[in-house]
Amino acid sequence: MRPMRLLVKFNLILILVFGAGMAAAGYFARSFLQQTAHDQVLQQARLMMSSAGAMRTYTTKQVGPLLEQHQAQVNTFLAQTVPAYAATEAFNYLHSDYPDYAYKEATLNPTNLRDRAVDWEADVIQIFRTHPDQKEFSGERDTPAGRSLFLAKPITAAAPCLECHDTWRRAPAAMIRIYGKDNGFDWKMGDTVGAQMISVPMAVPLAIADRAFRTLMLSLGGVALVTLLLLDLAIVMIVIRPVTRLSKAADQISKGDLNVPELPAQGSDEISQLAQSFNRMYLSLAKAIRMLESQ
Ligand code: HEC
Repeated sequence: MRPMRLLVKFNLILILVFGAGMAAAGYFARSFLQQTAHDQVLQQARLMMSSAGAMRTYTTKQVGPLLEQHQAQVNTFLAQTVPAYAATEAFNYLHSDYPDYAYKEATLNPTNLRDRAVDWEADVIQIFRTHPDQKEFSGERDTPAGRSLFLAKPITAAAPCLECHDTWRRAPAAMIRIYGKDNGFDWKMGDTVGAQMISVPMAVPLAIADRAFRTLMLSLGGVALVTLLLLDLAIVMIVIRPVTRLSKAADQISKGDLNVPELPAQGSDEISQLAQSFNRMYLSLAKAIRMLESQ
């Protein structure tokens, strides 16, 4: 009975140690994997933000100057000269291939009403307005399509912008004919009027992180289980079996049986030494008893 209890104690300690180790490893692995997923998505969002910036620059430097001459000739206003329009339209084409990715030039008082900031976007713009030094803001949101990361950059009105976004009287007449005079005017120089908003879905990277976490925990659990079984086997072979043999022999001898065979005692570990000492003690005892009996 007693040696079994030794195995139980030993197993309890090991399970406790393995359990604590796995809990700690799981905790750190989980936060590391989720952080990695987050960083990966943020990196993707930065790339998209930069590509929106590239579209804006291309429009300002190349498309705008070409179309301006044409606009003047036909006395009309072409939205294709507007950088905000170019970036938004280009991303709308991308959106049809990747519906969960989005770009918006969210604005508090927009010229084109599709750009009006919704409540949470207005909150982000407000953060930029109260912290003018902040150049970037990112966060995570739950959307109907799953968790999504957003990256925002402030849009500030500069002198050239006021040609069209100052009072409606100052804006090109051809533009007013199309957009009216109610929206997108009276922006002030240096004011943060809106924010470029990139939204990137997190579902796929999060699912990958989850899968990696499960695989890691399962393999850790598997390794712990195999280790436990091998250690149990070793304990049984090295300690429990010899000790049980020894205690059985001691039992028999204590009941006066002197025909107990000697215990196997090869090796030099503590258990073998104990068996050797036991054998010597048993021989001396047997000799002493025989001497007593022969008198
Ligand atoms: C030639 C006139 C013109 C100039 C100059 C101009 N914009 Fe605009 N802007 C427009 C028009 C028109 C729209 C609406 C385009 C559309 O239909 O999407 C617009 C849209 C925007 C939008 C999207 C929100 C909205 O109002 O619909 C932002 C943001 C914006 N402009 C910022 C700027 C900034 C910043 C500058 C200066 C760097 C600037 N604009 C210069 C005419 C102009």
